[in-house]
This record gives sequence, C-alpha cells and structure tokens, in this order.
Amino acid sequence: MVALIEAGYDLVILDNLSNSSRKVLTRLEKIVGKPLEFVQGDVRDEALLGRIFQDAAHRGKPLSTVLHFAALKAVGESVREPLRYYDNNVGGTLSLLRAMQTANVKKFVFSSSATVYDANLTCPFQEGNPIGPINPYGWTKAMVERVLCDMCTANDQFSAIVLRYFNPIGAHSSGLIGEDPSGIPNNLFPFLTQVAVGRRTHLSVYGGDYPTVDGTGVRDYVHVMDLAEGHAKAVAHVADTKGFVPINLGTGHGTSVLQLVRAFERAIGRTVPFRIEGRRPGDLAESWADVAHASKLLGWAAKRDVDQMCQDGWRWQSANPEGYGQAG
Ligand code: WQD
Repeated sequence: MVALIEAGYDLVILDNLSNSSRKVLTRLEKIVGKPLEFVQGDVRDEALLGRIFQDAAHRGKPLSTVLHFAALKAVGESVREPLRYYDNNVGGTLSLLRAMQTANVKKFVFSSSATVYDANLTCPFQEGNPIGPINPYGWTKAMVERVLCDMCTANDQFSAIVLRYFNPIGAHSSGLIGEDPSGIPNNLFPFLTQVAVGRRTHLSVYGGDYPTVDGTGVRDYVHVMDLAEGHAKAVAHVADTKGFVPINLGTGHGTSVLQLVRAFERAIGRTVPFRIEGRRPGDLAESWADVAHASKLLGWAAKRDVDQMCQDGWRWQSANPEGYGQAG
C-alpha cells in the first residue's frame, strides 16, 4: 500500500481482517501521512464489491485497476483444509472478476506465487516454465492464473499482470508495519524473528542433507518493500498493456536457510539457537527466480539485499514483540 500511495495512486482497501489487524491501517496512515479509504468486508461478497465500484464512480473517481492480494497462504493448512482454500482463493477471485465485469473494470494485477511452477525443473524458474503445483495452495494460484488467461483470450480489452512472488521477507523500514502471522509461523523468517524476540525457544532447520551449498534449503528471498515497489510498476504497466502477463518477483539469487540465519545473526548482533532436523514434507531443495521479465517489462529489479531484509525485519519484530496483538 505504501509504495502505491507514494507512486501517487488513490486506493480503496478491502480486507476482511481474517488474518490481519485493523491496527495496520492506523500505522499505514501514519506512514503515508493521510487517511486511507478502508472497507471491512469479504471479497466473496459480490453485493459489497458492486457498491465499492459504484460509490467510486459516483464520486467521479471510477476504479481503473484491481490489485488482488486477498488469499489464504499457508501451504500446510491448505493440505488439511483444501475446500476452505479453494472457496476463499478461487471462489473469492471469481466473485471479484464478476464484479469487475459488471463495473466494466478491465485491469487486474494478481498476487500469485512461485509455488505454481513444476518443482522438478531446475532453477532459475522462468515464466514460460510448465505449471505443476504440489499442494492445494499452489493449485489455487494456478487455477486463478488459468481463469485470467482465458478471460484475456475472451476479451481483448481485459489485461492481467500475474506477479509470481518468490519468498517475501523483511518489513517497512519504519518498523511500524511487518509480518505478524497468526499462531505458530509456517514460514522461516517470522519463526526466526520470533525466536530472537523470545517467543519461541529455537529454530528447527528442516533438512541438512539437501544437495545444496550447505545441505539446507535454498530460496529466493525478496524484500517486501521491493515487492511492493514491483506492484506500483505493474499498475503502471497494466494500464497500457494487453493480455495475460506472468512476471516473477524475486532477486534472481538463492540463499540457504543457514545463510539467512547467519545474516539475521549479523543484524541482531548475537546468535540464534537452532537445531537441524528432518526435511519438511513437500519442500523443494532449491527455488529461485529468473528475473529478466521483471526488468524488461516493468523496469523493476530488487534493490535490497538479505542483510537489509534482516535488519528491517528485526526492527519491526523487536519494536513489536507481540506483533499487532498489543500494538498501540
Ligand atoms: C523456506 C525454507 C524450509 C520454516 C512459502 C509458501 C508460501 C509462499 C512462499 C507466497 C525452506 C525452511 C521453514 C522453519 C525451516 N508464499 N524452514 N524452518 O516453503 O519456500 O514457501 O513461502 O506465495 O507461503 O510456499 O517458505 O519460509 O516456509 O521455507 O528450516 O521453521 O526454510 O524448509 O527450505 P517456502 P518457508
């Protein structure tokens, strides 16, 4: 949101707050220095969506582009609760696309994921790679991409930029907003920051025997603010492009779990307790992006390195040990 506002866009934010806190809005307004238009509601509520589009048009500021981030994203949870994931991630997108069609809004930027790629292929993953998710979460993203591709074929006025995130980590440099997953974190970085702030006893490193630089899993970690700036570029690009355009958002470099732990230890100035344990089912050994498309089509490249991701992530977590739970 911050990057979009700083790029000069007016936003209407819709969120059902099922996995976020309204306190984020207060913090966002503090960062951007102005009130934000927020609607609490669910992307599956088509009547609400219609009112949002109509209200904007009646105010003489019709919505031109939709950025769709609303999705459940815990891989393990998607395996346990596939129907909830298909209903929310795919069903919610279909509601949104129907409301856009009714309101004649034709520009779409979609938050997709590197988990759509066929994991059997070697890195770097390229946008033209075959699609082959290995979990329901990845399938929800792949199915939405299919819907968007078919919509672009059916209507040459509709265009969709699909941003395939690799591994976003870090936080806004102010330390006011950052990642605050509910419950026990599934992902490496929030677990690491919670160990450092004393909420977890130690990090379990899932696997030390992968065929990688040091035996631990390798991923393409990308600073969340670089990712945000990539969205601002995508909104500008979708305004004057046609069709279905998948674009990787990553750094183009792989970092192992242990390399990330060492970078984080440099950021906080002390060691973090960890134990190397067995592999996590479904994990890849390696995943990192080919980022040539992002550079060529969006004029975007990640600017921040792993050390800055760790410094910014720690600034958020150390200032908010309980996340937004006790935030003012
Ligand atoms: C990274 C590495 C783990 C936790 C996820 C999901 C999805 C997607 C991208 C948006 C792996 C290791 C992890 C831990 C560990 N988001 N690890 N101990 O699995 O690459 O992808 O993020 O699309 O959320 O697909 O991310 O952070 O879970 O794992 O050793 O406690 O860290 O084995 O090598 P992943 P991750």
